[in-house]
Amino acid sequence: MLESLRTIDDNVKKWMKEVRVKVIASFNDDLDVKTKSGPNDLVTNIDREVEEFYKDKIKKYYPGSEIIGEESAHEVREPKNEGLLWVIDPIDGTMNFVKQKNHFASMIAIYRKGTAMRGYIYDVMQDKLYWGGPEIGVYCNQDKIEPPSDKKLNKGLFGVGAPLLIDNYHNLQKAALESCGTRIYGCSGIQFIHVLNGQCVAYISYLRPWDYAAGKVLAETLDLVVKTIDGRPIDMLSSSDVLVATKNAQKDITRIVQSTY
Ligand code: IPD
Ligand code: CA
Ligand code: CA
Ligand code: CA
Repeated sequence: MLESLRTIDDNVKKWMKEVRVKVIASFNDDLDVKTKSGPNDLVTNIDREVEEFYKDKIKKYYPGSEIIGEESAHEVREPKNEGLLWVIDPIDGTMNFVKQKNHFASMIAIYRKGTAMRGYIYDVMQDKLYWGGPEIGVYCNQDKIEPPSDKKLNKGLFGVGAPLLIDNYHNLQKAALESCGTRIYGCSGIQFIHVLNGQCVAYISYLRPWDYAAGKVLAETLDLVVKTIDGRPIDMLSSSDVLVATKNAQKDITRIVQSTY
C-alpha cells in the first residue's frame, strides 16, 4: 500500500502543478463569478474546472474511488465501497482568489475505510505544497517538517474565522485576547498551514468537510489536536466548528470556553 501511495503522491503533485499553471493563466481572462448561498459565497469557472480536472484524473487512474468535491457534492455520506475516498476543495479561499489573486489554496485528502491516508494543501501563489500522512510524516515541498513546539495560547498567534470572532461564539473573544494576537486570512487551507509550521498556535473556524479534511490529516500526523471548540471529536461527514491547535493551546482554549458556561 505504501508503494502505491508513493505513486499517488507523485500523481497528485503533478496534478497540482498543472492546476497552478491553469490558475495563473486565468488571471489574464475574465472570470465567470457567481454567488452561491449569498453575496460572500462565490464560485468561479476556475473552481468548477479545477474540480472537474481532479475528478477526471482520479476516475482515470483510480477507478473505484469515491469522490466528494465541494462544487459537485450534493450530499456528504459514508463511502459505499472500500476503495479510496477523495475529498476535494479545488480552490479554497475563492473570495481571496477573486479579490486578491493571492492567499488561496487547492486541497485534496485521501481516506480509506475511514482511515486518513494523505492530505495535500497547496498554497498556489507561494508554490508551497504541504503534504503527507501518518506513515511518512509531513513535508513542505521536498523538506520534512517537524511537529511544532507545544506552545501555550499566550505564547502564539490565534488564527480565526471572522464570523465566529465577530459573533463572540463560545466567548471566543476572551480566548483571542489571551493569545499574542488574532489573524484572519479567509482561507482555511492557509490557516491550517500556519498551525502546521508553527506560525500560529491555533486556528478555529466553522468549516465544511472539504475545508478541513486535508488539514486534519496533516495536523494529526504532526501531533496537533483537531477537535470541536469544546473538545469533542470531529465527525468527518459534517460541518462544524473545527479547532486545530497545539495540545497546550487547545487546553487553554477549552478552559476559557468552558469557564463561560
Ligand atoms: C472558505 C474558506 C474560508 C472559510 C470558509 C470556507 P471556500 O472556503 O476556507 O476561510 O472561513 O468557511 O467556506 O468556499 O473559499 O472554498
Ligand atoms: Ca466555496
Ligand atoms: Ca474551502
Ligand atoms: Ca472551495
